[in-house]
Amino acid sequence: MGFKQQILLTLATATCALAVSPVGSGSWTSVDPEFDVQECAGGTVSGSTFKLPESPNGSTSGSGCSNGHLRAERRYKNDYSSGVHQFGGQFKITSMGGNKVDLKQTFNGDDGPWFMMAVKDSGDLYNVEGGDTIASGVATVGQTVTINTVHDADSSSFDVYVNGNKTYSTSSVGGSYYDKFGAYTTDSGSGPITVEWTDISFWTQ
Ligand SMILES: *[C@@H]1O[C@H](CO)[C@@H](O)[C@H](O)[C@H]1NC(C)=O
Ligand SMILES: *[C@@H]1O[C@H](CO)[C@@H](O)[C@H](O)[C@H]1NC(C)=O
Repeated sequence: MGFKQQILLTLATATCALAVSPVGSGSWTSVDPEFDVQECAGGTVSGSTFKLPESPNGSTSGSGCSNGHLRAERRYKNDYSSGVHQFGGQFKITSMGGNKVDLKQTFNGDDGPWFMMAVKDSGDLYNVEGGDTIASGVATVGQTVTINTVHDADSSSFDVYVNGNKTYSTSSVGGSYYDKFGAYTTDSGSGPITVEWTDISFWTQ
C-alpha cells in the first residue's frame, strides 16, 4: 500500500469512527431524506447550528411559524405510517440561558406533536408529553450527547437511546410521522439556547 492510500484509509477510518451507529436488533438500511429549515419568531438555523434568542420577536410568518413559538429546526421529509424507522444524531448545547427547550421531535402529522424530547436548565432530558425523565443531567453545556430513536410503527413501540443506552420507551398511536430536530420552546419554555446537531443518520428496516 502506498503512502497516499494509507492516508486515505486512515481518513476513511476516522470518518467512520465519528458516525453514529444504529442501535437495536435487526439489519438497518441507511436512508437520506431531504429536509426543510423552519425558523420562527427570531430563531435561526445556520448549517448545523440552531439558535433561539431569549423571547419571540412577534413574527408568525414563515414555515411552521403559525403559533409564534421560538423555532429553529429541520423538518425531515421522511413521512411514514408503517415499518421500522431509526434516527441517530449527536447534539451539543454550546450556550443555554433558557429552560424547557425541545430538541428532537417525532411529529405525528395527523395529531400534531407526539414525541418531544426537551432539555431543562439542569441538563435533564424529558418527554414533554407527560413529563417523564428520559435521562438526568446528561445535556449540560459543552457535553456531546448521542440520541437514537427507534420507532416500530407496525407494533407501535418507540424507544429512545441516550449515549447508546435505552433509557425510555413509550407506545405510539396510529397515523403518519416524521422527524424534526433543532430547538423549539415548549409552552412553558424560554430561550436563549444555541445547540449544534451533527452526525445525523436515518435508517429503516
Ligand atoms: C423574526 O425572526 C424571523 C426568523 O426566525 C425572521 O424571519 C423575521 O423577519 C423576524 N421578524 C421581525 C419582526 O424581526
Ligand atoms: C449504560 O448503562 C450502563 C448500565 O446502567 C452503565 O454502566 C453505562 O455507563 C451506560 N453507558 C453510557 C454510555 O451511559
